[in-house]
Amino acid sequence: MTTSPIEFARDNQTRFLSELKNLLRIPSISTLPENRAHVRHCAQVLASELKRIGMEHISLVETDGHPLVIADWLHAPGKPTCLCYGHYDVQPPDPLEEWISPPFEPTERDGNLYARGAVDDKGQMYMHLKAFESLMRANKARLPLNVRVILEGEEEVGGEGIAKFVREHPEKLKADFALISDTEMFAPGLPTLCVGLRGMIYTEIEARGAATDLHSGMYGGAAPNPLIALCQIIARLKDPEGRITIPGIYEDVVPPSVEELAAWKSLPFSAEEFQRNEVGATELTGEPEFSVLERLWSRPTLEVHGMPGGFTGAGAKTVIPARATAKVSMRLVPNMDAARVFEKFSAYISSICPAGIKVNVRLIHSADPMVIRTGNPYIQAATGAMREVFGRETVFVRSGGSIPIVGDFEHNLHIPSVMMGFGLPDDNLHAPNEKFKIANFHNGIEAIIRFFEGVGAMSAPAPRP
Ligand code: BES
Ligand code: MN
Ligand code: MN
Repeated sequence: MTTSPIEFARDNQTRFLSELKNLLRIPSISTLPENRAHVRHCAQVLASELKRIGMEHISLVETDGHPLVIADWLHAPGKPTCLCYGHYDVQPPDPLEEWISPPFEPTERDGNLYARGAVDDKGQMYMHLKAFESLMRANKARLPLNVRVILEGEEEVGGEGIAKFVREHPEKLKADFALISDTEMFAPGLPTLCVGLRGMIYTEIEARGAATDLHSGMYGGAAPNPLIALCQIIARLKDPEGRITIPGIYEDVVPPSVEELAAWKSLPFSAEEFQRNEVGATELTGEPEFSVLERLWSRPTLEVHGMPGGFTGAGAKTVIPARATAKVSMRLVPNMDAARVFEKFSAYISSICPAGIKVNVRLIHSADPMVIRTGNPYIQAATGAMREVFGRETVFVRSGGSIPIVGDFEHNLHIPSVMMGFGLPDDNLHAPNEKFKIANFHNGIEAIIRFFEGVGAMSAPAPRP
C-alpha cells in the first residue's frame, strides 16, 4: 500500500511535534555570548536532521558570528528550484518570571506549544524540514522540485553573516524563488501571504558628561547629567502625536497604492479589539491621519528599547552618572534607505545635543524595507495550496517586522520570496509565553507539502539571459 505525503505527515504528527520540542530545548539565543555553544549545537542538530531526511551537501558555514546550515537536493531536472530560508536563533527569554512554563521546556497547553522560538522561528522553520521528509518518504526518496536550504543563527541580531554569504556566493544559492515561513496569519484560519516588511536601523546613543560618576548632592545643579540629556534628545525626536521630527525623514517614503490601501480596508480588523486584546493599553498612539494598519505597515517608527546607565539596582543611590546610553531603533518603509536614514538620524541628534554633553551615535545593524512582487506563478501556487488546506482565499498583507535577508534575496539573487507564515497575532513573539498553535504547525506542513507539489507540477522558467 502506498502512502501519500499528506498521509505520511498525518501519521507522524506526534513524532514531528516531539522532535520540534527537542529543538526548542536548545537555548540558541544569538545575542548572548554565553549561549554561543548552544547556538552551534542547534545548528549541528539541524544538520544531522537534514542528513537523516535525505538532503545532500549538508554543511555548517562559519561566519564572523553564528554558523549557517546549508543543504540541497537538486535531482528534479526541468523543475523550479526553491530556496528555503529559516532562522534557528531566538530572542532572550526575559523577563523570566512572566513565563507560565519555563521558556526552554516546551509545554503543551490548550492546543498550543509554549516555548521561546516555538513560532519565531524554530517551529516554522521545522515545517519545511518535515514537508521534505513527508515528500521523500512517500515518494521513493525524491522531491517534486529542486530545493536549497539555508538556515541562519543570527537573524535576531541583524543577520550580518548570511548577508555576506549571499553577497559573496550567489551561485551557491541559485534558485527561482525563496520560501520563508517567519510571518503570521492575519487572523486564525485565514491563509495569509506577507508581501511587505519594514526595514530598520538599530542604534545606540551614548552620552558622556562628567569625567567620573559624581555625588548628586555635591555636584547636582552644576554638573551635566547624561541620562537627562538623553531624555531631552529623545523627547525631541517625535512630536506629541507621534510624527518623527528628524528633518527630511519622510522625504523618501512611498505610500501604498490605492489598490493596496483598499485591500487593507477590507481585512477583518478592529482597531478597538487590537488595542484591547493585543496591545492591552488604554489608548493607541501614532499619527492620527493614518489608519492603524498604515501606521504598522507603511509608516516609519522611532522607538526606545532601553536606557542602560546610572543606578538601576534596588533601593536608592544618589549618583550623577558620567555616561549613559539609549537603544533606539527606527523601522523603515519603502523607499527609505537605511544608510541615508542613519545619516539624518545621527546628524539631527548631534545638532540638538545639550551643552556639556558629548554624544556618539552608533549603528548596531540595519535592514532595508521590502515589498514583494506578487505577479509570479509561485505566489499562485502558494494561494492554491493554502486554499486546499484552509478552504479559504488567501489575503495579502504587509508586516511591521523585519527579516533582513529578504531584501538581499531580491537585490543579490534577483528572486521573489513567498512569505507563507503560520503564526497568529497572539503568539507573543519576543515576549514571555511565546507559543505556536499546534494545529497551525501541522496545517502549515500540509500547506507546504501541497505548495511543493504545485510548484513541482510546473516547469523551471527559462534561464535569465
Ligand atoms: N519573524 C520576525 C519578523 C516578523 C515578525 C515578521 C512578525 C512578520 C511578522 C523576525 O524574527 C524578527 O523578529 N526580526 C527582527 C529583525 C531585527 C532584529 C533586524 C525584528 O523585526 O525586530
Ligand atoms: Mn523570525
Ligand atoms: Mn524575531
